[in-house]
Amino acid sequence: MILCICKAVSEREIDAAVRAGAKTVAAIGERCSGAGTDCGMCQEAIEERLESSCSSCPRLRDCRPAAAALASAAP
Ligand code: FES
Repeated sequence: MILCICKAVSEREIDAAVRAGAKTVAAIGERCSGAGTDCGMCQEAIEERLESSCSSCPRLRDCRPAAAALASAAP
């Protein structure tokens, strides 16, 4: 099923990017043909997929703040 209509990116592609290490919506956009970077309507759905994939990870508490800091420091 297509999750980002603007960029025609599927849930499957988003999930694959998450499994490959994407931790933020911006990282998903970089890995998935710009998903979430056009109208932005899909960003909440992308965040939900990030959250659900990380919810069982024992490193969640350390990982998410570090990923956010890296994303904000990127040029
Ligand atoms: S639906 Fe994803 S950016 Fe518009």
